[in-house]
Amino acid sequence: MLGDCNPDVLVLGDDVTPAFGQQEKLVGSISMVTGGSAAITAVAAARLGLRVALVAAVGADPAGTFMLDQLAAEGVDASAVAVRDGTPTGMTVALSQGGDRAILTALGAMASLTAADVPGALLARARHVHASSYFLLEGSLGPGLAGLLAAARAAGATTSLDTNWDPSGRWGDGRLSAAIAQADVLLPNEAEALCLAGAGLADAGPAGAGGLDAAVSALVAAGPRVVVKRGERGALCADGPVRQQVSLPPVVPVDASGAGDCFNAGLIAGLLDGQPLPQAAALGCAAGALSAGAPGGTARAPAMAAAARLAALASVTSVALRRRGPVAGQGRDGRTPARGAAGSHDRERNRFGQAGGQRRGIRARGAQADMELGAGNSLVLGAQDVLVLLVGPDDVDEDPGIGADQVEGIAVGHLVDGDLARRRLAGPGGGAVGQQ
Ligand SMILES: Nc1ncnc2c1ncn2[C@@H]1O[C@H](COP(=O)(O)OP(=O)(O)OP(=O)(O)O)[C@@H](O)[C@H]1O
Ligand SMILES: [Mg+2]
Repeated sequence: MLGDCNPDVLVLGDDVTPAFGQQEKLVGSISMVTGGSAAITAVAAARLGLRVALVAAVGADPAGTFMLDQLAAEGVDASAVAVRDGTPTGMTVALSQGGDRAILTALGAMASLTAADVPGALLARARHVHASSYFLLEGSLGPGLAGLLAAARAAGATTSLDTNWDPSGRWGDGRLSAAIAQADVLLPNEAEALCLAGAGLADAGPAGAGGLDAAVSALVAAGPRVVVKRGERGALCADGPVRQQVSLPPVVPVDASGAGDCFNAGLIAGLLDGQPLPQAAALGCAAGALSAGAPGGTARAPAMAAAARLAALASVTSVALRRRGPVAGQGRDGRTPARGAAGSHDRERNRFGQAGGQRRGIRARGAQADMELGAGNSLVLGAQDVLVLLVGPDDVDEDPGIGADQVEGIAVGHLVDGDLARRRLAGPGGGAVGQQ
């Protein structure tokens, strides 16, 4: 893990808006906890059972010592965290009420981290390199990040990048595009995905006006797979032309700080375990949802058993763009099938956690659909099988929720490398299962 490492001072309460004019206000609680996206991701990954080292910069002061102690207590190797004399440790004050936050950050030593601070031996033995908070470290780490990620890849590691928010509002430049091109997975939240794409990365052109789907397509065109964190709505995975929405039942957050960082840890743990992207994202969703149940980023960061138990309940809605031979009325960009081009693509919905075994009266839930499928029907699912709802040809929505009236059939899909390789079809009410 590479990036920011600082204490978070969490201010919680029903009304945490400061009142200027030297007024004093009482709030629910104020506490100092592990903060910094990279540090939270490191702790969350260690809780999930990964061997983790953090590379970051702190000052030679009590705040820096606090962070080093927290990392040591969690089993994170902090031997490569640089301690700078004469520069204070960075610090964040987060004013948090319900699901929303206002954040004030002083960069301090964190913005002194450069690529040269990353020990070559550490890079050489890493299986995965994750960089967090690009924009906070833009001036120091920015120039060397693309080279660093490229070196990690050359040594056999996979890479990921979570830029987090850009306080400057510029949302990057050619250096960021180069770093994104060296990331195997890009991990923005929804607002960040829109801003990153809106800045016109990697010649993809401005996409901010086209909604999340257009933004994600522009980011994928820049090189990486993209997983967009969507708060209580889970995550949207984009891999080439395939879009998969991963959802868990929403929780009422106590404090969502660090949920995204815990998500990153879960996703990385899943990918390192060899899981396909949506299953790894389900593990990320589980880690994020569990961490939102307590103040701070790491208080409830789960162990692997708890995260995996919750991840097994995730539903995955696939929006697969597939060509079947020449497509009449192809979209102007040559990639997007035009509306009404029959058979040009399916919208599918499937559900992980149901692989294997006999299922009766399968129930599918979705943002817009909650329906009983084939009551009394039974389907035998193999270990690699997932349940798929086939939805009629239509343009891809910004939000791939599916209405009950759109379902045209049920299928059992067979997963190979995270994609549906073949399907057996059943009618809408069950019926005979044929081979496709
Ligand atoms: N209220 C919630 N209910 C269920 N899951 C949630 C909730 N809030 C967050 N999560 C899970 O955690 C993930 C990350 O949260 P979020 O979308 O807030 O990321 P983020 O904005 O990057 O957060 P951060 O502030 O840590 O950078 C979500 O994609 C989701 O899976
Ligand atoms: Mg985030």
